[in-house]
Order: sequence, then structure tokens, then C-alpha cells
Amino acid sequence: MEPITIRSSFTNDIPAIESLYLRTAAVEGGLARTGDEITREYIEEFVSLSVKDGIGLVAIAGVPGRIIGEIHCYRKGVAVFRHMLSDLTIAVDPEYQGQGIGRMLFTELLSEVRKRTEIRRVELFARESNSRAIAFYSSLGFVQEGRLRGRILHRDGTMEDDLVMAWYRE
Ligand SMILES: CC(C)(COP(=O)(O)OP(=O)(O)OC[C@H]1O[C@@H](n2cnc3c(N)ncnc32)[C@H](O)[C@@H]1OP(=O)(O)O)[C@@H](O)C(=O)NCCC(=O)NCCS
Repeated sequence: MEPITIRSSFTNDIPAIESLYLRTAAVEGGLARTGDEITREYIEEFVSLSVKDGIGLVAIAGVPGRIIGEIHCYRKGVAVFRHMLSDLTIAVDPEYQGQGIGRMLFTELLSEVRKRTEIRRVELFARESNSRAIAFYSSLGFVQEGRLRGRILHRDGTMEDDLVMAWYRE
């Protein structure tokens, strides 16, 4: 396997992160957005927010390397939510999934969170059918806190529950 490195993301990673999200969204059942909803504006927004007031990391394969994974979460900019990182999203290139890269990204993110003692809560959503991702988040210490009934509306009109999961600093 090529060497994998994890580093913070920067705004000049935006084109490569966009391309990663497009590749990841091409496989149904993972990311909430479909390919046509992965726009430059969407990527610019979350990269800027995580650089400014959150955590954004990328996984790089090879040397000089290309971006094959990304994770981010950020503060909402609302005083009562200042202890919390939200909108957590992770994407690993389908060609590189199942090789431990998602776990590396998440472990690094949580290690960074643990250092930032002002952060007491990290939130994410996972659709109920993404059972592998849910088991993965549970193994990292995320606890299912709630079920949002019918929050996901599929193209064929069927609905699915979304699960709220959180990591909490005891
Ligand atoms: C979910 C995802 C980030 C996991 O990253 P990964 O690099 O494939 O995961 P790892 O190899 O580090 O394995 C970690 C766990 O993820 C799970 N996993 C592996 N491949 C997966 C896949 N294709 N989809 C969902 N979960 C997967 C496994 O249960 C694994 O658990 P284990 O370590 O106990 O075996 C990645 O598969 C992905 O980007 N999927 C599509 C987008 C997505 O679902 N994002 C999350 C939306 S809530």
C-alpha cells in the first residue's frame, strides 16, 4: 500500500477535495449529497468554516500524493453552541475504502478534539441503513442519541430515519 499521511486541510485543497467528494458521492448509500449537489460552493463553505473555526483533515496517498480522504467539523458561530463541533462529514475515495484510512482520519480528529478542552461535544448524523458507518462511529466512542424519523427522502419517494450520534467529553 502507498504511504498515507494525514494533515490539516487548507483552502488551496478545495479542487482536490471537490474531486474526492464527487468520486465518493458516485457510490450511493454513503454521503447525503448526490454528485450534482457536490458544488464548488458547498466545498468552499465547509473547508473555509473548518479552517476558520473547526477541524479539517485530509489523507494523502503517495508522494507527492493526492487527496484520498477528508474529514471536517466546525463550530456553528452561535454562542450557546460554542462548546460543540457539528456537521461532521467524512469521505474516503471508494478505491481506498476498507483500508483503515477512515479510522486514521477519525482518530486524528478525536485526538485534536481532546486537546481542545473547550470542545465538549461532537455531533454527526448517519442514515439508519449505513450500518457499517454506524458501527464504526460507535467503536470510536460516538453514542446514538436520537432518531429523526423519515429525515431522509430517497429519489423513489421512500423514507428513512436519520440517527443523531455524539461524542461527549465526560
Ligand atoms: C464510512 C467511511 C468514511 C469509512 O472509511 P474507510 O476508510 O472505508 O474505513 P476503515 O477502513 O478505516 O474502516 C473503519 C470502519 O468503517 C467501516 N467501513 C469500511 N468500509 C465501509 C464502507 N464502504 N461504507 C461504510 N462503512 C465502511 C467498517 O465497519 C470499518 O470497521 P472496522 O475497522 O471495525 O472493520 C468510508 O467508507 C466512506 O467514505 N464511505 C462513503 C461516505 C460515507 O458513508 N460517509 C459517512 C456518511 S455518515
